Amino acid sequence: MEKQNRLVHMLSIKYPIIQAGMAGGVTTPSLIAEVSNHGGLGTLGGGYMHPEELRSAIKNIKEKTSRAFAVNLFVPEYPDVSGEEVTAARKALKPYYDKLAVHERQDPFLDVELFEQQINVVLEEKIRVVSFTFGLPSGRVMKALKHSGVITIGTATTVEEAVLNEMKGLDIVVAQGSEAGGHRGSFLQSFEKSMIGLFSLIPQVVDAVKVPVIGAGGIMDGRGFSAALSLGAEGVQMGTAFVTSRESGAHELHKEMIQKAREDEMTLTSAFSGKPARGIRNTFTKSLSRHEDLLPYPLQNQMTKAIRQASAAEGNPEYMSLWSGQSPRLSRDTSAGEVISDLVSYVEEHRVLPITWSST
Ligand SMILES: Cc1cc2nc3c(=O)[nH]c(=O)nc-3n(C[C@H](O)[C@H](O)[C@H](O)COP(=O)(O)O)c2cc1C
Repeated sequence: MEKQNRLVHMLSIKYPIIQAGMAGGVTTPSLIAEVSNHGGLGTLGGGYMHPEELRSAIKNIKEKTSRAFAVNLFVPEYPDVSGEEVTAARKALKPYYDKLAVHERQDPFLDVELFEQQINVVLEEKIRVVSFTFGLPSGRVMKALKHSGVITIGTATTVEEAVLNEMKGLDIVVAQGSEAGGHRGSFLQSFEKSMIGLFSLIPQVVDAVKVPVIGAGGIMDGRGFSAALSLGAEGVQMGTAFVTSRESGAHELHKEMIQKAREDEMTLTSAFSGKPARGIRNTFTKSLSRHEDLLPYPLQNQMTKAIRQASAAEGNPEYMSLWSGQSPRLSRDTSAGEVISDLVSYVEEHRVLPITWSST
């Protein structure tokens, strides 16, 4: 008996392959359109974008594709920090400001209106799919999205987080395994307790929720795609595989470093942003690994922005955030469209599961 795939219908896509929203410039309109035009779901990493920037990126994508695409946003956090803590963080970062000739003077700040403004833009622009990480959107935001018929996708790193996503009304949940590149989406407890490998996470989440589950973390090709489907996921979300794609806006050095990296060169670090994220170990992550004077997210992220930018401008990877999952050896310098076609042909050729995809 053929098993229907719910995701392709809900998201109006051909194949249940989602290009992760990756904030910080990776998800160019060309990348998103390439993925959506090849039957997957491209996602704009809008987490850091100001409303007008977000609107203009969305308009740009609409010019390149008439297919569905998603916008990914960060559920905000407003940590309370004292002036002394900011001074201590600045002192800890001073050697790096000096080394890279950065004259960082601006105090970090919390933009308490940004998330609401981003939500307004996605509603005004009639975006069909919105995904979230770092927590659960408020009831008010969920109501506004539902009222406009937006399909919502949440992120979970444990079964309990997945159940809460479902209870809150999210339509789909991404199970983010510990292999995943970039920031951990954990929001319930310490990230150490929430480092669950994808092989363990998918089937346990699938058993606990009724909504469709998307597997994410270390998936780079047809083998990972079919494994995730075999474990009960109805789709996959991939980040690193698209970072190195030709259409990605990642810095060339970032792409090169992933392609040269080994699986044991990855680390989890809060040094760049104040929130644990997986990337390639370098001088910055090593020297700040045990530092206690880091600020919480998103403040630390603002404090290190100039350092990351100066490092990239110098062509020096040692102070850049080189986010990557644990499967860098499988990364390729190819088009995003080819990444999708290869995944699809592998699954169809190997007849991994009798699945019907196509809805469009
Ligand atoms: C460079 C990079 C940036 C990322 N930025 C985001 C983001 O803005 N929002 C989000 O929900 N996930 C983000 N992620 C995590 C992905 O959603 C996904 O969990 C992860 O890429 C899966 O692991 P993989 O990189 O091995 O495919 C990012 C991942 C990478 C590699």
